[in-house]
Amino acid sequence: MGMTRRGFIESFGAATALGWTASPASAAPGPWPELEGRSVEDVARDEDFWAVIQAAYPVDRALINLNNGGVSPSPRTVQEALRRDLAYSNGAPSYTMWRHLEPRKELVRQRLARLAGAPAEEIAITRNATESLDTVIFGLNLEPGDEVLTTDQDYPRMINAWRQRELRDGIVLRQISIPTPPPSREAIVSAFRAGLSERTKVVHLCHMINLTGTLLPVREIADLVRGRDVQVIVDGAHSFAHIDFAIPDLGVDYFGASLHKWLSAPIGTGLLWVRSKRIGPLWPLFAHTEASSTDIRKLEQIGTYPVPIPLAISEAIQFQEQIGTARKEARLRFLRDYWVDRLQDLEGFCLHTSRDPGLSGGIATFELVGVPVRDLGAYLLTKHQIITTGINHPQFSGLRISPHVYTSLRELDHFVAAVRTAAQDGI
Ligand SMILES: Cc1ncc(COP(=O)(O)O)c(C=O)c1O
Repeated sequence: MGMTRRGFIESFGAATALGWTASPASAAPGPWPELEGRSVEDVARDEDFWAVIQAAYPVDRALINLNNGGVSPSPRTVQEALRRDLAYSNGAPSYTMWRHLEPRKELVRQRLARLAGAPAEEIAITRNATESLDTVIFGLNLEPGDEVLTTDQDYPRMINAWRQRELRDGIVLRQISIPTPPPSREAIVSAFRAGLSERTKVVHLCHMINLTGTLLPVREIADLVRGRDVQVIVDGAHSFAHIDFAIPDLGVDYFGASLHKWLSAPIGTGLLWVRSKRIGPLWPLFAHTEASSTDIRKLEQIGTYPVPIPLAISEAIQFQEQIGTARKEARLRFLRDYWVDRLQDLEGFCLHTSRDPGLSGGIATFELVGVPVRDLGAYLLTKHQIITTGINHPQFSGLRISPHVYTSLRELDHFVAAVRTAAQDGI
């Protein structure tokens, strides 16, 4: 993708914010190098490029938000599309929203499919990862005694859904532990290999674990059960639009994600990908006239909802495509390395995330040994207006740091200085 500096400014309406004029003759103070032909690592450290991205997010800069893994803000263009369509919807909703706006969801499906590298007929648009994954968890035909293999680091709401199936249907949930941080991808694969049994019918795993940002070798794990009567469900809440991959290449059956995390789509958007041969047998969570239909839209029967919300996913995809997912992935890793490099010499600093690119992306979790996680989180928030996420797991605890593309290096400098002060002077 080629993109000029002026192209960016016009796309994101950021000229004013940067003090640049958008007039063609003087669009930029100096040459804007074409992105094409430059390595993603090179662009990842090009602060002129990222300044334009940062200015596209109308966030509150009196706070430093390092919890984008929870939920992310949207760029201005997404918020404006949402406002525009909400106003239009309310003109005469049964007509303007249902008749005019709702059909446009089909283009959103196509654009999402292109971003996911999958056929549009395998993509359902949902409200979040929970809805996507619950649709699968409650939609599979399983017999009493059938085993579901997952980890003790999978998302609690998904574990609860499986627990409910245990109580109702007599299935068996098996949770394995995985080493944290993992020494290698193979160490994770072998933990899964050891957890499989003759009765395993489902493997449910995160692509990227929310607690530490650890990337799991999903393809290799799916290969363990290839040719067996085992279905693989991936929780992609943190990997989609963060890591550059095509969903079908994971070699799994189902993939659910939130789009309000790394895609910066409106809050309340998600995606469910189902491999085409699995659509027919999957029961919809909300009933459809024909439960065994092979039309993916049978999984979207949620009743009346605000149509502008999924429509504005289109603007988020536009924004994502203009950056390029590979460049975004490289930038998010660069930001992670930026703060880790500046803290790792601190006494007691302990990183619970591997820095191997095959095992992580832009999220990392650290601990200052001897400083309670809760106290450090509270100190950063109350004394420095820095938002982090406290993580507590039986194997480890720490603060999860998840910057986004709108995070500036200055903000990370502030965070680093605050942690250093906490470590050296106490809190
Ligand atoms: C790994 C993982 N899965 C699922 C979810 C649920 O996402 P949502 O609340 O958007 O449904 C989260 C939320 O943080 C998550 O981290």
